[in-house]
Amino acid sequence: MATRHGTFYRLAATILIAFLLTPLTAAQPPWQICGKSGNYAANDTYQSNIRQLSATLPKNASASRTLFATGSIGSLPDIAYALALCRGDGNASACEACVTTAFQDAQQLCAFNKDATVIYDPCYLRFSNQNFLATTSNDNLIILKNSQSVSSPVDVFDAAVQTLLNATGDYAAANSSRRFATGEEGFDTVYGLVQCTPDMSPADCRSCLGDIITQMPRDLSGSIGGRLIGVRCNFRYEVVPFFSGSPTLRLPAPPAPPAPPPAPVNVTPTATPGGKSANNVLAIVLPIIAAILAISTVCLCYLRRRRRRRPASTEQAHYSTNHEDIDSIDSLIIDLSTLRDATNNFAEANKLGEGGFGAVYKGDLPDGQEIAVKRLSRNSGQGIGELKNELVLVAKLQHKNLVRLVGVCLQEHEKLLVS
Ligand SMILES: *[C@@H]1O[C@H](CO)[C@@H](O)[C@H](O)[C@H]1NC(C)=O
Ligand SMILES: *[C@@H]1O[C@H](CO)[C@@H](O)[C@H](O)[C@H]1NC(C)=O
Ligand SMILES: *[C@@H]1O[C@H](CO)[C@@H](O)[C@H](O)[C@H]1NC(C)=O
Ligand SMILES: *[C@@H]1O[C@H](CO)[C@@H](O)[C@H](O)[C@H]1NC(C)=O
Ligand SMILES: *[C@@H]1O[C@H](CO)[C@@H](O)[C@H](O)[C@H]1NC(C)=O
Repeated sequence: MATRHGTFYRLAATILIAFLLTPLTAAQPPWQICGKSGNYAANDTYQSNIRQLSATLPKNASASRTLFATGSIGSLPDIAYALALCRGDGNASACEACVTTAFQDAQQLCAFNKDATVIYDPCYLRFSNQNFLATTSNDNLIILKNSQSVSSPVDVFDAAVQTLLNATGDYAAANSSRRFATGEEGFDTVYGLVQCTPDMSPADCRSCLGDIITQMPRDLSGSIGGRLIGVRCNFRYEVVPFFSGSPTLRLPAPPAPPAPPPAPVNVTPTATPGGKSANNVLAIVLPIIAAILAISTVCLCYLRRRRRRRPASTEQAHYSTNHEDIDSIDSLIIDLSTLRDATNNFAEANKLGEGGFGAVYKGDLPDGQEIAVKRLSRNSGQGIGELKNELVLVAKLQHKNLVRLVGVCLQEHEKLLVS
């Protein structure tokens, strides 16, 4: 019995450690909005105008000091307008590559659509037969919301985010020729970024940002990360750093700093007006990463506290603690066949991403619960024996509803962690 549990602990610890260390790479952007102003036909004049735009606009944007370009080609009724904006913390080569890719992707994502918007992290592209360049209206607003919520009071967190974005927006509008700024609030609490198209006046830019910042509590309330992106201005915030370089602004900590959140994995990407789907994968994977961070932080804290608290413990006391732990662990074990069913036998279609230690699949349990299954490659490392308590801690945390770890599975050479 003792040996079986010993082996189990070692394996479980190995899995947990691998899970903690493995970076996930998953399909994320592009996001797209396909318009409603009609279609063009193969080889028609409109398509040829788009081709010409795609031949010069990426260069024009990357050659510009502000990483921004607009243009139009053709005449009515086949005139095509386009706008390309790269993120202010990017560089020329990344900008040109991104806009070029966006033009190519538009052909697939919004095939034959005269009005297409394609968004990547480093760049934004829209082309249309409508002259959207003539206005500063922030059309085609897309909402990207991380479904994970903060653990601190939501209104406090929302206000902190708004304070950060307001200050960053002031700077971007008034003091940046790229109309771009980044900010950090508190120490490692909230990170934000705002940007307008650089052809906006400071007043128009600030007003555009003001509108979407005001909208934040309605669209993104309490979410640990989110973006509102329109054709004229956008913002993004996260509880982890995500932009290049040091922040333009550093603000003092908000009144009651939000703690890093505990970790449900479920997914509700917000619908995008006119868009197809936001980003399911992002919404699943980001919570997993956050969960991992939360687990490791809490484990560390717990270990420290426990070490401090424990008196020169007797064998007896020690034993009974472990006994409890073992019960917690057993309740986490999930059958391999259940996981096979849930993930369609680890179907390629269910794969969310692949890391150094193995792949992650999404799945549905019979009770409808959505899960992510981390499948470690068979030759992933073993023998990190000292850390066997880690999994016990996770199990205990689960009792306190701090972390949602659904279970583990160790069968037929499979090592799976389910969250
Ligand atoms: C469009 O042009 C290409 C090459 O110029 C040709 O192969 C293709 O058949 C044309 N498609 C249509 C629908 O005319
Ligand atoms: C790109 O810049 C060149 C030179 O300024 C200009 O002639 C061309 O029209 C621009 N391209 C677009 C699509 O506006
Ligand atoms: C431009 O940015 C990309 C992506 O951040 C980076 O990989 C590349 O090294 C940068 N190039 C230059 C010339 O700075
Ligand atoms: C942000 O700025 C807007 C005005 O643009 C203001 O109404 C709002 O109260 C500010 N919010 C915070 C939290 O500072
Ligand atoms: C913009 O720059 C001016 C002068 O450098 C400075 O006084 C002002 O505070 C800056 N504005 C913001 C919003 O940082």
